Amino acid sequence: MEIEIDGVRLYASVRGSGPPLLLVHGFPLHGGMWDGVAERLEDRARVVVPDLRGHGRSEPSRTATMRRYADDLVAVLDAAGENGPVVVVGMSMGGYVALEMVRRHPDRVRALAMIASRAGADTPEAVAGRRETAARVLREGSAPVAAGMVDRLFAPSAADALRAYWHQEMAATPPAGVAAALRAMARRPDSRRTLKRLHCPLLVVVGADDGITPPTEARAMAEAAPDARLRVIAEAGHMVPVERPAEVAAALRDFVDRLDAASAAPSP
Ligand code: MLT
Repeated sequence: MEIEIDGVRLYASVRGSGPPLLLVHGFPLHGGMWDGVAERLEDRARVVVPDLRGHGRSEPSRTATMRRYADDLVAVLDAAGENGPVVVVGMSMGGYVALEMVRRHPDRVRALAMIASRAGADTPEAVAGRRETAARVLREGSAPVAAGMVDRLFAPSAADALRAYWHQEMAATPPAGVAAALRAMARRPDSRRTLKRLHCPLLVVVGADDGITPPTEARAMAEAAPDARLRVIAEAGHMVPVERPAEVAAALRDFVDRLDAASAAPSP
């Protein structure tokens, strides 16, 4: 499916049937990172997988913000005919966007799943680092960012073929999309209060070997939210949906089953 917003073409895949599930990828990846998860859920859910602007098959714009990404996702859902609340699942940067969706469009969020993500904002050092990297990407292209990230993304046990494939995919992400995402992440707000006041159930999933958003971050999110579950997946790094798609799909299926059971239960 393709839509156009302000002259920017955005792509999303839609498959399966059942309660709607929106899967939002991380940086500087694309919706294909959810393939192994989506194919295991399409008998249970209607799975909408967008490419954020400037990633995958979606065109870049000169700038981006978490607000812009969140509004894009709502436009994608509208175009897919999903006008009610959906289960929003965000991996890493996708989780930052999901939290912005909670703030801006709470009526569109039935439940939230934060996968290999965090709720806090960047430190001043991290902000400066992202700005420098954004400028470098615009000068030199995306390849150095891809090369710098690939080893940090995966657990030591991950197959070389997975690393090689995602290295190549990240290097192919357009520099304008990578730079805009870096600047958007640098500007994102602290979302810890958003989690504290979360109006819906939360699932937190993390790889035990995640060195980018470690299990301590995941535990803090699960402890902050009023109604949360935490799932730590062994022998998985930051790319847990790619490294362990069966386990991530099982955790999401169980989450959807519980949500449906709660909706079906008579109110007290
Ligand atoms: C991601 O995987 O989306 C990024 O590593 C997140 C970040 O840089 O904060």
